[in-house]
Amino acid sequence: MAWLSSVPRTVYLGTFVSAPHPGPDAGLEIRDGAVLVSAEGVIEKCDWSVRSAEEARRVFGLEEEVVVRTLGPGEGNGFWFPGFVDTHIHAPQYPNTGIFGQSTLLDWLDTYTFPLESSFGNPNSPFYTSHPTHNPPTNLLTRAKRIYCRVISRTLASGTTTAAYYATIHVEATNALADLALELGQRALIGRVCMDEARTCPEYYRDESTEISMANSRACVEHCRSLDPSGERIKPILTPRFAPSCRLSTLTALARLAKQEKLMVQTHISENTSEIEMVRRMFPHSDSYAAVYDEAGLLGEKTILAHAVHLSREERALVKERKAKVAHCPASNSALGSGYCPVRTLLEEGIDVGLGTDVSGGFSLSVLEAVRQAYLVSRTVAYHAGGNTKYNIGFAEGLHLATVGGAKVVGMEGRIGAFREGMLWDVQEVRLGRVDGHGKGGSSAVDLFGWETWEEKVAKWVWNGDDRNVKRVWIGGRLVHEQD
Ligand code: GUN
Ligand code: FE
Repeated sequence: MAWLSSVPRTVYLGTFVSAPHPGPDAGLEIRDGAVLVSAEGVIEKCDWSVRSAEEARRVFGLEEEVVVRTLGPGEGNGFWFPGFVDTHIHAPQYPNTGIFGQSTLLDWLDTYTFPLESSFGNPNSPFYTSHPTHNPPTNLLTRAKRIYCRVISRTLASGTTTAAYYATIHVEATNALADLALELGQRALIGRVCMDEARTCPEYYRDESTEISMANSRACVEHCRSLDPSGERIKPILTPRFAPSCRLSTLTALARLAKQEKLMVQTHISENTSEIEMVRRMFPHSDSYAAVYDEAGLLGEKTILAHAVHLSREERALVKERKAKVAHCPASNSALGSGYCPVRTLLEEGIDVGLGTDVSGGFSLSVLEAVRQAYLVSRTVAYHAGGNTKYNIGFAEGLHLATVGGAKVVGMEGRIGAFREGMLWDVQEVRLGRVDGHGKGGSSAVDLFGWETWEEKVAKWVWNGDDRNVKRVWIGGRLVHEQD
């Protein structure tokens, strides 16, 4: 398998930018120097005094020939930055990005999402009738692979090196997503969506019973484990869609399986007020939305909860006690009018938070966009708290959440997210445009005039950067994306 093959031991030389420290005042870590990456894709050594290839060879004690990649200031204002972690993305929803009309969560699911997702395995999906120019293909799996291939290539091109994916209920298509992530080199958590509650799931798109939900989930777990027994590249994740779409028997059976097999779990929580009301009606014996999951046994340190916009103080205390993690999805929350997640409150109370794009509730698969939206949402939270700036999430803190924060959420803490010895080389090479003496610039949206400080350059990247600025991406030391 391609990713098992080793890569040449390599020295990376230039400017390294990261946001390794938590908190509103931590800022960026910006260092010139060299990083030595082993043939296994692990950072062996960092040295922040080295300025040339010769020095690197001497300081690192390298006798054999190694590859040296240099990113000097003359090369398009380039720097290395840790790869992004997308802690919440629905791969099959990608064709619907930007398509949500005036809907809010529950009618959005019924109108746009269930039809599209069902088309990955059901030839009678209403998606085909509502798109008359799109006949059901003879091979649904080929169509699914085409879409998944594009999702993975595009997220890689936007600097996402690890993604926690929701797929659909279909085993074959979900396994194909895992195959493609492995082939294209992206670190991925792969979740077959469980939904079997007839009161909320349409007949054309649901598991027929708890038994089928469990058998199909097990099949996907086994497939992922057969691809990558270590789980560092491809990791299965149990995925009850959200409480209203699952029978209680399914939630509890999934929790049992998660405990037995030490599996991760992902689901949605407290995204929208109508959804919360529905949970209250459907689970009258539970005190809260978080309590539904807890009573089923689903809240634990390997659990990723998307959204958490409207959690009560008691629910936050429960989430914290169980060490469950939160995927903050600001673009989605604003696009679907779900509300404003109080991220500072979650962080202050000791909950781990990462960023998610939540495509296609979110309109962009770029984690950089999620950083921007997290900043904007936090400003609104601060405004509604009487202008209390403690709620602000600045761009450096947003980048922290997009890297180190995300690493904690997906169970990769200490392995990815920063430039430290022992960490994996999951890195993007970012280049910003330079305006020349005649006022001519590059092709990206970020123009540097030459006088900007490094903090200013990174701020300009965060606010106007996109995939045009991502020149190369490595995962575990392997080059997985390179711009033409
Ligand atoms: N809640 C249940 N399913 C979904 C989904 O697909 N997207 C979002 N944003 N929320 C959900
Ligand atoms: Fe979602």
